Amino acid sequence: MNATTSTLKVQEGSPEAAHLSVEGAELALPIKHGSIGPSVLDVQTLYKDTGLFTYDPGFTSTASCESKITYIDGDAGLLLYRGYPIDELAEHGDFLETCYLLLFGELPTSAQKAEFDRQVTRHTMVHEQMSRFYSGFRRDAHPMAVMCGVVGALSAFYHDSTDITDPEQRLIASIRMIAKTPTLAAMAYKYSIGQPFVYPQNALDFSANFLNMCFAVPCEEYKVNPVLARAMDRIFILHADHEQNASTSTVRLAGSSGANPFACIAAGIACLWGPAHGGANEAALKMLGEIGTPDKVDLYVKKAKDKNDPFRLMGFGHRVYKNYDPRAKIMQKTCHEVLAELGIQDDPLLEVAMELEKIALKDEYFIEKKLYPNIDFYSGITLKAMGFPTAMFTVLFAVARTVGWIAQWKEMVEDPSQRIGRPRQLYTGAPERDYVPISERR
Ligand code: SDX
Repeated sequence: MNATTSTLKVQEGSPEAAHLSVEGAELALPIKHGSIGPSVLDVQTLYKDTGLFTYDPGFTSTASCESKITYIDGDAGLLLYRGYPIDELAEHGDFLETCYLLLFGELPTSAQKAEFDRQVTRHTMVHEQMSRFYSGFRRDAHPMAVMCGVVGALSAFYHDSTDITDPEQRLIASIRMIAKTPTLAAMAYKYSIGQPFVYPQNALDFSANFLNMCFAVPCEEYKVNPVLARAMDRIFILHADHEQNASTSTVRLAGSSGANPFACIAAGIACLWGPAHGGANEAALKMLGEIGTPDKVDLYVKKAKDKNDPFRLMGFGHRVYKNYDPRAKIMQKTCHEVLAELGIQDDPLLEVAMELEKIALKDEYFIEKKLYPNIDFYSGITLKAMGFPTAMFTVLFAVARTVGWIAQWKEMVEDPSQRIGRPRQLYTGAPERDYVPISERR
């Protein structure tokens, strides 16, 4: 698909400013145009010129930054990483190629790819003392709680890559994050099931190595299934980056204070954990299990439409996609491939998911609100079939999204115009009043 035909292009002669009149004062607010997609109203001087703030809780109409990394056309259901459509990257490339693209802006030559793979591979081990952090957790701790802790702890080990003003240190920190997050994630899984940690194997590629660290045991040889390794790699590509989503915005905001990259990524992991965001894959699988059989789908669709019922269809809807999430389509295809490879016929959860999708996409409520399956709708079924417990699903999302977070963090740190993020507010609390001694309070 040619991105420009389906994506809002800046029309020739678009207006260069919007005119605002406030209490008799006329103000021209510059309109800035991107290469594709919506233009922006530059309100940076609004408060200085009018004493007014803009008001946009949830940032539904707010661009927080300028970026060249990822672009989503929500109406067309299009996702571009540095201009390349996600389906082409998922089809033809591998996850480390996507990492290189997101970090440096161009697809690598074969020599660049080989060197990048070598660098990441050689950074997959973590300091041996990192393993001691795990024994401080309960075995049944949620692995996302463990990841928040151990990723943040990386900043205690890598003082040689926390000076964010040094481009060399920024690069080594980026490589370390991409390389070590899978190792820490696999350790969180092994710890939760009481099995010994498995060291990275440099002879394996990124995703095969991750599966080996998760599923190999010391007492017998483990052979990584190449179909599952390819599926894992594709799942990582699909989850790698996604514009200024909640967790990426968290990483940018944390990074804007000058915090080190490891601490910023730990903040991103904490935000991703929420069920409205990265936690939706875990919640979606639980929901499919709760529905149980295709004949119960109607009841749950009714609940999802009931304003008085807090129940929502997890894995459905999206702030930006008002069309089918292109990642969900590839996820669905991957789901079928994995189930076929594992010989899993008519998985009851898949049957419920297919029935739910069929009914919801024909239902007036979902059509009117433009609610489609998102990436989390099919990922849970796939990951469960691959052997991951539900609690690990968001951890896998975090492993993939680490490259997006670090690429966006790097772009922000290298942006000469970046300043500390510090939003204002609409204050509706008590006006100034005198202190009342406790003896006089009624
Ligand atoms: C991810 O931002 C990203 O890019 C995120 C992500 C990424 O890659 O980083 O794509 C990953 O987080 C995907 C989204 C995963 N979350 C879920 O699947 C949870 C279920 N979805 C919803 O919670 C919701 O759709 C959100 C959070 C995804 C989007 O929320 P918005 O944009 O704030 O939309 P909204 O809550 O204002 O909903 C608009 C309307 C509402 O009805 P009205 O108030 O207008 O009457 O649609 C309804 C909502 O009630 N609605 C749903 C629904 N999602 C929205 N109704 C039923 N089921 C749903 N899932």
